[in-house]
Amino acid sequence: MHPPGRAGAILEFEIRPSRHCLRDEDRHSFLDAPVFGQVFTDHMVTLRWDSERGWHDGRLEEFHNLSLPPSASVFHYGQEVFEGMKAYRQPDGSIALFRPERNAARFNASARRLAMPELPVETFLRAVELLVRQDRQWVPDGAGTSLYLRPFMIATQPTLGFTLPSNSYLFCVVASPASPYFSVRTGPPALTVWISEEYARAAPGGTGAAKAGGNYAAAFLAQRHAVEQGCDQVVWLDAAEHTWVEEMGGMNLCFVQQPTDDGPATLMTPALTGTLLPGVTRDSLLRLAARLGLGCEEGRISVAQWRKRCEAGVITEVFACGTAAVIAPVGQVRAADGGWTVGDGRPGPVTMRLREELLGIQYGRRPDDLGWLRTVCGPTEGPTSLERVC
Ligand code: COI
Repeated sequence: MHPPGRAGAILEFEIRPSRHCLRDEDRHSFLDAPVFGQVFTDHMVTLRWDSERGWHDGRLEEFHNLSLPPSASVFHYGQEVFEGMKAYRQPDGSIALFRPERNAARFNASARRLAMPELPVETFLRAVELLVRQDRQWVPDGAGTSLYLRPFMIATQPTLGFTLPSNSYLFCVVASPASPYFSVRTGPPALTVWISEEYARAAPGGTGAAKAGGNYAAAFLAQRHAVEQGCDQVVWLDAAEHTWVEEMGGMNLCFVQQPTDDGPATLMTPALTGTLLPGVTRDSLLRLAARLGLGCEEGRISVAQWRKRCEAGVITEVFACGTAAVIAPVGQVRAADGGWTVGDGRPGPVTMRLREELLGIQYGRRPDDLGWLRTVCGPTEGPTSLERVC
């Protein structure tokens, strides 16, 4: 439907470094204790698409407000997709991304579902890497900190017409230093979750497998309801039967089940039925769990089974996982007809072991033998003529 642009052409970005970068001392004050998604780096990347020219006008420039007509289709029909990924400071001072090709592929899957143009994977990676290199001094080095990257695409055609998808789009990448979601010294606290039986996140044939802003917009009401019930996060059930557990908030869910015989414990996570987001962290943890000798299962679990198996001591740990939160242990579950405790209500050993394995690879403390890291800047990489530090 959408012409991809000049086939085979390598897209170049015009580099326009900002003349108003934050002073070192101000930047350091943000990097000491960054709050998720509050402060953004000096630069951003933009790239445009229209049906005549395909992808064009790529730029790296100063972080700035966008100017769009109020008639731009994103404001009315919510045609938007995004990604979440992180750049990690390595022990030698270099900077690496974690499985960014996966984010690029998922971005395109999301774009296809929302009838938006796909971005060549190498262009997606180049955009992200340009920004990280330009703003490398914004990659924090405190324990558990990272530079959170948010690539996104919006529909910009100025029309209220609803016959065809927008004929123009803006792709952007912005970056924000991020703290560990959980205290590193005390370990992650266990969350209390609310099972939403009233609302559904995604239905068969819908956009649940896409990272589309609209999915998150529709989740706020249930999330607020969960908070009003004294819970941290909402748990989503399938839309058809309101029975099968799908996700938690904006993250995938994993269950640690003890064996009935002498075998190993199993990491079970709801299968990707088309209504769940295929998380990069979810996939990575399944791979790491298998390497640790755990059984791995992509299956399904009902709320009743969750409760019964916790009460029987079969399910001993539950956690949510995602790029932003990494691993978020679940300690208490509440629903309209009561609640129960997972294990002893605290983060369990399998959860913590998987977390340490994953973080170990991401922060270069463990060998990257799965080839998941992509180095973006060397330890001493100085400014180049194109990408200079301002
Ligand atoms: C991420 O984990 O990167 C996400 O996009 C989740 C978001 C709700 C913070």
